[in-house]
Amino acid sequence: MSKQKVPYIPLDMPKVLSKKNKLLSLWHLMRGYHFHYFVSTIFLALAAFARTGMYVYLGTFIDRMIKERLTGQELTLSALTFGALIALQALSSFMSSWMANFTAENTTRRLRDYLFDHIQRLSYSYHSESKTGDLLERATSDVDTLRRFFADQAIGVGRIVMIFIISFVAIARINMRLALVSIIIIPIVLVISIIFFKRLSKAYEAYQEQGAVLTTDLQENLSGVRVVKAFARQDYEIEKFDKQNAEKFRLGRKFNWMHALFWPLSDIICSAQNIGSSFLAATMVLNDVITIGAFISFHGLLGWLIWPIRNLGRLIIDTSRALVSFGRIAVVLQAVEEDMTASTYQPKDGIKGQITFDKVSFAYEKDFLVLDDVSFECEAGKVVALLGSTGSGKTSLVNLLPRFYDVTSGQILLDGVNLNEYSREFLRSQIGIVEQEPFLFSCSIRDNITYGVHRDVSQEEIEEAAREAAIHDVILGFKHGYDTLVGERGVTLSGGQKQRLAIARTLLINPRILILDDSTSSVDMETEVQIRAALDSLMNNRTTFIIAHRIQSIMNADLILVFDKGKIVQMGEHEVLLNQDGIYKDIYDIQARIDSALQEEIDRVESI
Ligand SMILES: Nc1ncnc2c1ncn2[C@@H]1O[C@H](COP(=O)(O)OP(=O)(O)OP(=O)(O)O)[C@@H](O)[C@H]1O
Ligand SMILES: [Mg+2]
Repeated sequence: MSKQKVPYIPLDMPKVLSKKNKLLSLWHLMRGYHFHYFVSTIFLALAAFARTGMYVYLGTFIDRMIKERLTGQELTLSALTFGALIALQALSSFMSSWMANFTAENTTRRLRDYLFDHIQRLSYSYHSESKTGDLLERATSDVDTLRRFFADQAIGVGRIVMIFIISFVAIARINMRLALVSIIIIPIVLVISIIFFKRLSKAYEAYQEQGAVLTTDLQENLSGVRVVKAFARQDYEIEKFDKQNAEKFRLGRKFNWMHALFWPLSDIICSAQNIGSSFLAATMVLNDVITIGAFISFHGLLGWLIWPIRNLGRLIIDTSRALVSFGRIAVVLQAVEEDMTASTYQPKDGIKGQITFDKVSFAYEKDFLVLDDVSFECEAGKVVALLGSTGSGKTSLVNLLPRFYDVTSGQILLDGVNLNEYSREFLRSQIGIVEQEPFLFSCSIRDNITYGVHRDVSQEEIEEAAREAAIHDVILGFKHGYDTLVGERGVTLSGGQKQRLAIARTLLINPRILILDDSTSSVDMETEVQIRAALDSLMNNRTTFIIAHRIQSIMNADLILVFDKGKIVQMGEHEVLLNQDGIYKDIYDIQARIDSALQEEIDRVESI
């Protein structure tokens, strides 16, 4: 984190996005820096004046040299004038480019922050559906294209117009006919630029999209590198990447080919213009219409008149790229944020934790019910266990409680009030989740444990939580204890250790409602006994939803729900369910058989 946060001018993003004309959006994106933009343009004009002045002065100087003999003093004065004009031009160019870069860096820094902020606020479902690599590409490569546009081309319009006008007026002062002949090519270059502009922006969009595919591939490959190695799929992955990379190459080649074609074409046209105009100027010298000095001035100025015309093409191309990139970023910015505070109900004394599911159905995609007519009731502070085959909807059910998703039909009541009336922010502050696959950040173990706590916590509190989650001794075993880094630069924790760290994290948050999604699936029997003791104290007096595959982990629950294909097929306490014919009894019998076979095996080995 930076030591000092540089404040920046706020931006009305909805206004930026509401503009029909994307160029106007880019203009609004520069809000607060328009002044810098103008100053940059003014310095640019100064530089152009200085340069034009140099050519004009050069012309008069040569004419005087031809006509009369200059004194030493006059020569020195001329040299000083040249020096001053060069210095003015250099200084103005520097200031202009510095201001343009200042605008570009600030504008894109602000955009990056808005984008990140927005991505944080997008819904759970948006993130589970979108590809990380694609978002990465938009937040980095596309933002960078805009940065380059603001640094080089946003002032390009001012630059081109300014240099063109100044050079044109200077030439017109020498001779009007020459000035008019020198701009004949403008319509030709303009037409060619527009044709290229259309094609190039399409080619560039395809190129960027393929870039996103490649980033996604790379990101998935790196995240799943263990699976790749375990299944010895390196060759397949290499081939897959190579194919996508070749496609990017192909699109890049197409894009660059058009780029490469444009420049020589405009070069030829501009050179023809140069030769034609110079020829006309030379005949004018021969016919005594203009002087030799004027010819030299004109020749220098002609280069500067053609330059903006040539750069019109580049301006159009770069602008088209910036518009494509902005469009790609705008798609993300326009995605609806999750409204964290839409509903406002927030009981003064906090919640008790009584939960009722009333004919709840839920579907991720239309017509495919993942939960079907689910009804049950759970008293505050009691434990509900969910059991069922994989894919039967257990995780989906608990994800409805913090309103990661909203029910499709029916209702969920918390302390008698419809869940939709609570703000998401409040609900999430009351619910602690130990996920099926907990995610740890690449920071110290201490920071990971205190991640969700919005208050200062003492080392004792942290250790207490870690002890209860049966992870304290493991942490002390590491060289740097609680300061040990997790992840890429530090230790790699096992699945069970991660789960226990996540339990410690939730213990510290001290939530009213607790969700344990298969939280002991990655630990051995012995550790599970330790954790279960921790979980018992964690569950004490909190409404708890526990998902587990081992009956032993859930048999003490107050209510057990057995799921099959999104429906509750059995419901009750352990003893009751055990005396019914059904899935529960079947699972119990199978697990009991496995356990006794295991015990027999252990006894046999021990007796040898
Ligand atoms: N984000 C999602 N979008 C669309 N469908 C989903 C999504 N998450 C889960 N599903 C589907 O919903 C169904 C239920 O999934 P869920 O994760 O709730 O099962 P589960 O009971 O928790 O399984 P497990 O025991 O393996 O964790 C599955 O068919 C799954 O494919
Ligand atoms: Mg699950």
